[in-house]
Amino acid sequence: MCGIVGGIASRNVTPILLEGLRRLEYRGYDSAGVAVVGLPGLVERVRSVGKVAELEQQLQHSALSGSLGIAHTRWATHGKATEKNAHPHLSDRLAVVHNGIIENHQSLRLRLQELGYVFASETDTEVVAHLLGHHYSRQQDMLSALRCTLAELHGAFALGIIHQDEPDTLYCARMGSPLVIGVGSGEHFIGSDPLSLLQVTDRFIYMQEGEHARLTLNDCQIWNRQNQPVQYAAQQYQHAALSMDKGEYPHFMLKEIHEQPGAIADTLDGLLAEDHVLTAALGPGAEGKLADIRNIHIVACGTSYHAGLVARYWLEEQTGLPCQVEVASEYRYRQVCVPEGTLLIAISQSGETADTLAAMCYAREQRYLGTLAICNVPGSSLVREADWRLLTHAGPEIGVASTKAFTTQLAALLWLTTALAQVRDRAPEMIAANVRALRSLPARIREVLELDPAIAQLAEQFQAKHHALFLGRGCHYPIAMEGALKLKEISYIHAEAYAAGELKHGPLALVDEDMPVVSVAPSDSLLDKLKSNLQEVRARGGQLINFACERATLDDGEGITHIGMPWVYETVSPVLYTIPLQLLSYHVALIKGTDVDKPRNLAKSVTVE
Ligand code: G6P
Repeated sequence: MCGIVGGIASRNVTPILLEGLRRLEYRGYDSAGVAVVGLPGLVERVRSVGKVAELEQQLQHSALSGSLGIAHTRWATHGKATEKNAHPHLSDRLAVVHNGIIENHQSLRLRLQELGYVFASETDTEVVAHLLGHHYSRQQDMLSALRCTLAELHGAFALGIIHQDEPDTLYCARMGSPLVIGVGSGEHFIGSDPLSLLQVTDRFIYMQEGEHARLTLNDCQIWNRQNQPVQYAAQQYQHAALSMDKGEYPHFMLKEIHEQPGAIADTLDGLLAEDHVLTAALGPGAEGKLADIRNIHIVACGTSYHAGLVARYWLEEQTGLPCQVEVASEYRYRQVCVPEGTLLIAISQSGETADTLAAMCYAREQRYLGTLAICNVPGSSLVREADWRLLTHAGPEIGVASTKAFTTQLAALLWLTTALAQVRDRAPEMIAANVRALRSLPARIREVLELDPAIAQLAEQFQAKHHALFLGRGCHYPIAMEGALKLKEISYIHAEAYAAGELKHGPLALVDEDMPVVSVAPSDSLLDKLKSNLQEVRARGGQLINFACERATLDDGEGITHIGMPWVYETVSPVLYTIPLQLLSYHVALIKGTDVDKPRNLAKSVTVE
């Protein structure tokens, strides 16, 4: 999704901005651009469709250089991915980059056209540029022009603005889309996330909703929605792993799949005692708060939603607490019934997903007992909005298809389930078994990663396929959903997941020799039921691919492939069975030759609705 960087320094900021854009590439984009106030004191701009590398090539011919600049990666929403729609957008002597959506852009565009402004693009962003230009022409002061403009904008935005009349000042604003200020030594930067600026600073101010700021070399002034000045001390950026390097791996996705044992160990670090969990990790008085919970609502998007679906099985079975899970984009727009004592859990890798954030804001107006963010980014908006937080320590996840963020979310959610069971005096043997299973997860995942060559070979069966079905039962149904999502995301094969018992209610009609059917078949209480469902597939000539526990005796024969999985304690098996499905989609994508880390049309961090 769109990304912003900007800077004011005593050096040429162009290479810094370009590196910032490279660091934002993981979010997904289809064009990029940069504008600086160059040496003659004029705003100069270079834009290109495609990768940041193409922008870089164009820059080599342009010798763009200046100490004040803004840059952008665009993920098309209003208007196609063309150069004229790429940011920065200009109005007279100013340039703007924007992340988010201006909802009232049409009425503003009409008004500005009536005032004589001519639009060069189809974007909502150009409206912001001309509106700023219009107010500046009347006020002759950028801060006042910015305030007048902000007062007229509806929707979500993070903005970076430069004006050639003020070659020493960078303006920015935030409402509904993330923006951080990077504090350097005698220089200031802005970025959509801290990662985009780690090459120049590790000290950040996280702008709050409705704030705008004026940055110069040595000064950082911030004002709130009411134009009152606010002050923040810069925070030291802390992240377990700062590496944004692929290392020995050809793709970030493969690297991140292999990082899962370490990421889970880091997430659980300090949370487990010998035979119980350490609830103090949730903060002072956590035990009392956990004991008051009577009901749970979970909201999330994409892969994080699947983590919530798995957690529902754990929570209801092990704690007896009713649990409801919903995609955030639906939840935020309906009248939710909130029984007394309900905890709202929002799950998000980035902590910046617009729908999840909006759901959290909506929840804060309802009668929840409290809100808990399960998130991978410590300083993210979601973490700051929530009453309580449980951080996953997966480290930066760059591949658009989420892998280690998902399994660390599962580890955190099973830990939370265990904590809730513990304060409810549930069976100590169950609690101790969960703790042992959580602790053993990194080693068990390493065993599964050894299956990589067999899975790579299996992936060849998908080379000419256009569709696939994924089946699972119980808490492995959401794992089948996640497997199908991974395949869709990076190999562009249409894949659907079904609870295996639903097969005969429709999808069985699709099964023939061209339809691979992937089953998640751990040795659990539902295995016999699953076996019957698999026979229904074989009887119709479907190609069966079973990820099955070594201890499960499944039918062999032509058209059936088994990948044997090590036995594991039933509760944690969703985590383990995720791994081969990630590897499968990775290898299928390799065979198909798609862009594994940056699949078409998708964004890592979806900061618009
Ligand atoms: C995008 C990403 C997915 C992710 C989803 C939710 O669609 O491509 O991988 O699962 O957003 O993101 P979040 O950061 O809230 O977990």
